Amino acid sequence: MTNYLNTANSAQIKTVVVPAAGHGTRFLPATKTVPKELLPVVDTPGIELIAEEAAELGASRMAIITSPSKPGLLRHFEDFPELVSTLQARGKHEQVAMVERAGRLIEPVSVVQHEALGLGHAVGLAESALDDDEEAFAVMLPDDLVLPFGVLEQMAEVRASFGGSVLCAFEVTPEEVSSYGVFEVMEICPDEGLPTETVKQVIGMVEKPPAAEAPSRLAAAGRYLLDRAVFDALRRIKPGQGGELQLTDAIELMIKEGHPVHVVIHQGKRHDLGNPAGYIPACVDFGLSHPKYGRALRDTIGAVLQEYDDREASLA
Ligand code: G1P
Repeated sequence: MTNYLNTANSAQIKTVVVPAAGHGTRFLPATKTVPKELLPVVDTPGIELIAEEAAELGASRMAIITSPSKPGLLRHFEDFPELVSTLQARGKHEQVAMVERAGRLIEPVSVVQHEALGLGHAVGLAESALDDDEEAFAVMLPDDLVLPFGVLEQMAEVRASFGGSVLCAFEVTPEEVSSYGVFEVMEICPDEGLPTETVKQVIGMVEKPPAAEAPSRLAAAGRYLLDRAVFDALRRIKPGQGGELQLTDAIELMIKEGHPVHVVIHQGKRHDLGNPAGYIPACVDFGLSHPKYGRALRDTIGAVLQEYDDREASLA
């Protein structure tokens, strides 16, 4: 992966906004009582992985846009004194560190979204969580794991050159474009010193277009570095795709009004934790690289695959 970032934490982003008010309908029945952002990837909830990525970026505050029915999300970042003292009394220091980790990564702030009016609406609510001097902030969609961490730092480098807002793109198949916000892009000037293969200027953005109308196969991954001018645009858009206020439409409005928007095309991996078809591979991927479970999991998966191959062969 191209690395043109020299210093860690150079992004100077204080707040990351994490929209997490959805009902997790693609994950029922688990999400009747457990918010989907608390489902574990091996042993760590997705929201804690997002907090880890935000902390690595150097952000100090995580504004979680949540619904009144999901108090457990914020609870995950609080103190658990009784559990900690029980674990300490039993000498389980590794587990104490696991319990305390989330709260030490970042300061969570709760912003309640009472009605599910769309991603644009959710991001608009975050304005109240920002300080007056914060010119830009990050949005991290907790369904998306963008690996390895560090794409927001690259995006911050692009903003340092061009100003405006910077998004993260990844290439999808023609069949997949209609599930994403899709970019229309043009080349940047090579003189900027940024890699022209992976950094493009965005000249249009459309939410979930039919495949035949998609301007490219570059889809928005859930990482955004937004100028606070987006709040003004969000106040002016009308409900769009799915009858919801779309962040994509606010970005398209800003582009049309001359606001610079660029993308960094992500070269690494992405997992979609928002549905079982993406969540299972994420667990396998994290499981295989886990120091404690990796080796045994590899053997188990190998045996399961063998069993399926044998069954298929016997039916052939
Ligand atoms: C949202 C955005 C979409 C983006 C996607 C990335 O869609 O609206 O533009 O491409 O996240 O995961 P959702 O998946 O919430 O429908």
